[in-house]
Amino acid sequence: MAATFRVGLLGHGTVGAAFAELLGDRADAIVPITGLRPEISGVLTRSRGSFEEVLEGADLIVELIGGIEPAREYVLRAMRAGRHVVSANKQLLAAHGEELWACAREHGVQLRFEGAVAGVVPVIRVLQESLAAARVERIHGIVNGTTNYILSEMAARGLTYEDALGQAQALGYAESDPTDDVTGKDAAAKMAILARLAFSTPVHLDQVVYEGIEHLTAEDMEYAKELGLGLKLIGTAERVDGGISVRVHPAFLYAGHPLASVHGPFNAVTVESDAITEVTLSGPGAGGPQTATAVLGDVVSAMIPPASTPETTEALPVVNDIESAFYLHMEVADRPGVLAQVAELLGMQGASIRSVVQKGLGENARLVLILHPLLESRFYAAVRLIGQLDFIRSAPRAIRVIDEEFT
Ligand SMILES: NC(=O)c1ccc[n+]([C@@H]2O[C@H](COP(=O)([O-])OP(=O)(O)OC[C@H]3O[C@@H](n4cnc5c(N)ncnc54)[C@H](OP(=O)(O)O)[C@@H]3O)[C@@H](O)[C@H]2O)c1
Repeated sequence: MAATFRVGLLGHGTVGAAFAELLGDRADAIVPITGLRPEISGVLTRSRGSFEEVLEGADLIVELIGGIEPAREYVLRAMRAGRHVVSANKQLLAAHGEELWACAREHGVQLRFEGAVAGVVPVIRVLQESLAAARVERIHGIVNGTTNYILSEMAARGLTYEDALGQAQALGYAESDPTDDVTGKDAAAKMAILARLAFSTPVHLDQVVYEGIEHLTAEDMEYAKELGLGLKLIGTAERVDGGISVRVHPAFLYAGHPLASVHGPFNAVTVESDAITEVTLSGPGAGGPQTATAVLGDVVSAMIPPASTPETTEALPVVNDIESAFYLHMEVADRPGVLAQVAELLGMQGASIRSVVQKGLGENARLVLILHPLLESRFYAAVRLIGQLDFIRSAPRAIRVIDEEFT
């Protein structure tokens, strides 16, 4: 029976409640990784619990209250008492990070904060660990899901800023007071934290220049579309002339930029460095269960003794015959009925055609199909028969298509 690891929880709101539920669901899975079973040992909200009791009964404190005080005081007291702390509080870290990190160092405890920037996107861990050896030159980020959702809706549906904001509020992507999001302040706090980690220099929220999206119009979005550009709220932290610049403002992006295709409430961060060129991470930027996943990931990291190796907990079968969408390229003699015969053989295997392109004439025509997902074994059975048709000029070529839609 694994020993218990006691987690004291400060705050039981959107993220705190999701965290408590997730910890209950995942406790069994965490035992083989850490050798310990995490459990919530105490909860503090405005209406229940006492901080002293929660602290006394905990091995680690999770701070999900938000704001500066009393979160700052609780985090400091927990670390001074020798407890690791996990927090998702970007405003606290952007305003008082240096004081908190100094306290963590002094008392030999960990202060982890993956959930504070870009929700479940593991950008903090990547900067601190995976890319620790890279000299980061620049970070570009879409680090506020609310504004990205608003801009995506303005671009896709021609909505005004006000209508898109109303829709974001109705769907729960924006709070009733969205000021911190739409003015860029929320993104500025996150960029301050990223810049601090990337450049190993103190960066306070007050040093981040930020501009929001309130003044953008549907007309701006129209022009952007015509020019093949996307309009995003972009946070940038970069080295400039021996110093650094950290800012947040709306910016146009060409279609090929890794952040241009990030739509809806998603977040993404691109880290640039000479050695690695660029690494882009993206995923859900906020939300209770999503942020709770990042918070629990931090708790697990804090629980792991150094150099632990993960054990396997299940023997899952490996599945080889999976569903894929396909691009199918055929060189054909252009005769009546070619497409119909190909479609019939595909149809017999349950394949349905998403799009068709036919090019060229006579004996050298090309027929290109994109198919909706089907089992690969069924697809290749159809391709074998298609290859035997008398109008096929060379072996058909197939390439898988990743056609998941994420937004
Ligand atoms: N929501 C998200 O999607 C998201 C995403 C990323 C990061 N975060 C961060 O996660 C943190 C929590 O956000 P949230 O959305 O979960 O906030 P929330 O829903 O407002 O919950 C806050 C919780 O803290 C408690 N609390 C507030 N003031 C307190 C005080 N003085 N003493 C004790 N408890 C107090 C509240 O108590 P009552 O229950 O009694 O009101 C509530 O349980 C914030 O730092 C936020 O920036 C949130």
